[in-house]
Amino acid sequence: MNSPDFEHYWMPFTANRSFKESPRLVVSAKDMYYTTAEGKQVLDGFATLWCVNAGHCRPKIIERITRQIAHLDFASSFSLGHPLPFELARRIAQLAPEGLDRIFFTNSGSEAVDTALKIAMAFHRHRGEGTRQCFISRERAFHGANVAGTSLGGLPVNRHPFSVMLPRVDHLRHTQNLARSAFSRGLPAEGADLAAELENRIIPLHGSGNIAAVIVEPVAGVGGVLIPPEGYLKRLREICDRHGILLIFDEVITGFGRLGKPFASQYFGVTPDLITFAKGITSGAVPMGGVIVKRGIYDTFMQPANKGVEFPHGYTYSGHPLACAAALGALDTYEEENLFERVNGIAQYFEDGVHSLRGLPNVIDTRNLQLLGAVEFARRPGTITRSAEVSRKCWERGVYVRALGDAIGFCPPLIIEKKHIDQMFGTVADVLRTVS
Ligand SMILES: Cc1ncc(COP(=O)(O)O)c(C=O)c1O
Repeated sequence: MNSPDFEHYWMPFTANRSFKESPRLVVSAKDMYYTTAEGKQVLDGFATLWCVNAGHCRPKIIERITRQIAHLDFASSFSLGHPLPFELARRIAQLAPEGLDRIFFTNSGSEAVDTALKIAMAFHRHRGEGTRQCFISRERAFHGANVAGTSLGGLPVNRHPFSVMLPRVDHLRHTQNLARSAFSRGLPAEGADLAAELENRIIPLHGSGNIAAVIVEPVAGVGGVLIPPEGYLKRLREICDRHGILLIFDEVITGFGRLGKPFASQYFGVTPDLITFAKGITSGAVPMGGVIVKRGIYDTFMQPANKGVEFPHGYTYSGHPLACAAALGALDTYEEENLFERVNGIAQYFEDGVHSLRGLPNVIDTRNLQLLGAVEFARRPGTITRSAEVSRKCWERGVYVRALGDAIGFCPPLIIEKKHIDQMFGTVADVLRTVS
């Protein structure tokens, strides 16, 4: 294949100059593997970007999209409908936790987060509590790259260039505690008490009547795969309930089977008021996101006094036919191949793989939950993190895993088999022995 002209494309979240000096290009993909421009097979150990839950180029998804593009390429959902988003919303509602069965579609996780915030604000206003405009997230959170997500985000590198964006946001402490919980298998036993900070510090500071919602990733992904301590999410739920604050789970990563249930909410047995989703809904094939809303919240918007357009919000491509087709193909694949349930069968082998890295040079933590995992390295001076070096060397040896700060994250497609797990962790282990 001829090499493209690299000059004009400004790549997102990428060191453009170093990429363009030594590009990594993939040209096709199937199931668990990419094929690179040089014809090499690379195992996708990260579902590309936490997305490809069904694996690459799956037939049901291809078939649905192909049929759809020839049939109805585009119809908007602004006061004009087409059947697919209705059908898709019904399917998502069937998978969602009890009581959350109203679905708003966006094109990405970032838009889903913006949408959830606007729903929360408007909901409170409709109930006569318009002072509730403050949002609480967490250190090391990632909630997308839009203005709202950047403000809510808790990763310093993503915030510093932009200063303050949304004015009324505060952050809870993150839940990682290596001194107490390094090398935990599954949920760390200690740390649920961290949730008390919401009630002891944040609520008194801002006033409970001013807080619209708390938003958390059930498992913080981009921040390094931080597994919540046992009981932590339940405590957050209880505190939010006591103070009339909405709880939003950002399930852009954990939604659609990552933890062996449709949503992390069901895995943890904690029901939020709103769930944001994206990525796995189409298994990455076409951009799509959305918000799953508790029925009572939706009903508040539909009260008689709120005439006309009940929620003046949406995107040109909300409920786009191709995205819906891809999503229906993905949901069919998940269902027919029992992929969510499959996670529960393979999770122990994956866990053993993650923790097999313990004891290798510079490893200070290994952690996992279902099909999410990470290995973290001691920080070294200089600009190139160990994780960046490990990720690059793994790629050269045919395995794609992603650097997340000082950690490497593991997030494979749900179709992963034992031989792939062996390949993934075997390669990472070999590479770790070469990194000083
Ligand atoms: C938890 C979470 N929320 C939101 C987003 C943003 O999603 P998108 O990149 O589709 O806008 C991400 C992306 O990784 C995410 O991990």
